[in-house]
Amino acid sequence: MKSALLWETVANCSTTKARVSKLILPHGTVDTPVFMPVATQASLKGITCQQLMNLGCQIMLNNTYHLGLRPGQALLNEVGGAHKLQSWERNLLTDSGGFQMVSLLTLAEITEQGVQFQSPHDHNSSILLTPEHSIDLQNSIGADIIMQLDDVVSSLTTGPRVEEAMWRSIRWLDRCIKAHKRPHDQNLFAIIQGGLDVELRNTCLKEMIKRDTPGYAIGGLSGGEEKDIFWRIVTQCTDVLPKDKPRYCMGVGYAEDLVVCCALGVDMYDCVYPTRTARFGNALTAQGILNLKKSRFASDFNPIESDCDCLTCKSYTRAYVHLLATRETVGCHLITLHNVAYQLRLMQQIRTAITEDKYPQFVKQFFKTLFKTKD
Ligand code: GUN
Ligand code: ZN
Repeated sequence: MKSALLWETVANCSTTKARVSKLILPHGTVDTPVFMPVATQASLKGITCQQLMNLGCQIMLNNTYHLGLRPGQALLNEVGGAHKLQSWERNLLTDSGGFQMVSLLTLAEITEQGVQFQSPHDHNSSILLTPEHSIDLQNSIGADIIMQLDDVVSSLTTGPRVEEAMWRSIRWLDRCIKAHKRPHDQNLFAIIQGGLDVELRNTCLKEMIKRDTPGYAIGGLSGGEEKDIFWRIVTQCTDVLPKDKPRYCMGVGYAEDLVVCCALGVDMYDCVYPTRTARFGNALTAQGILNLKKSRFASDFNPIESDCDCLTCKSYTRAYVHLLATRETVGCHLITLHNVAYQLRLMQQIRTAITEDKYPQFVKQFFKTLFKTKD
């Protein structure tokens, strides 16, 4: 299949499957492994594109389902896509809307044709999101990487529904490939489904690799399954996915999962967690999570993290962020900014460790610091 990306190897870890690469896309180079912050409604809830750029973010994520509802396709076409709408000059990835079936909407009905949604803005109307419509919307949004519409079931679902969703995701990929009008500047990624079943995952891997898309995502995980099962499925996928294409683990963003999945050979991640948890006052640090709404921070005059160079840590104390976070939304915005900086810095540290071929030592130190254990 036609692709609009280049994949250059920078370094391979000599003991794990971790790798550092350059993913060259229409809006610039992305150093991988990469974490992609999620701006659901073309905004990162409290931080601007300019701030995100200053943090060194090379790619962020938008959602087709949300942008398709508001501002809608006509306006997207008029402004010339989501890069221009948000004034974001770097790379964008859009999710197809498939995941919203599981995560947001209880009022979705899935048929072979597509997914019927009830509009959250207007309860009298409903929207049919077909593979063709999802791709048409994503062509209007114009992201550098676009995702197939997939039939996602919760990772805790068992029985024939998992197999049905896997085969349907394959059929929907074929419809997406056919409908895609901009393969010269938008990369369509397949999404591997099949739940926690090794045989189903194998079949899906084989079928989707055959379609030869520019990159592959691992979907349907991080939904409450046991970690050892999650790791086994990721391992199974990275064992057979082509080495010369990006692998994207969807919806994964806990620091410990990023560190482990990089060792398993995953290159890309996204998750709302760092930005969502900031709105509850939670700041991410190498030593674990700090809930800055707790009263013990009222007189703590240290920055959130002393070695963090984000605007929040450079300018404010935990005491001040506590004061704001308990009263004003701007307090949560300051934590959002720090959390994104934390996440991007972690990925930079991972890339450096792999490049220096010190990844196993890095992993050991990371967990030691996180769990405050001594030698
Ligand atoms: N985000 C997290 N998991 C998934 C998935 O399986 N499919 C899609 N489309 N998005 C996701
Ligand atoms: Zn910070």
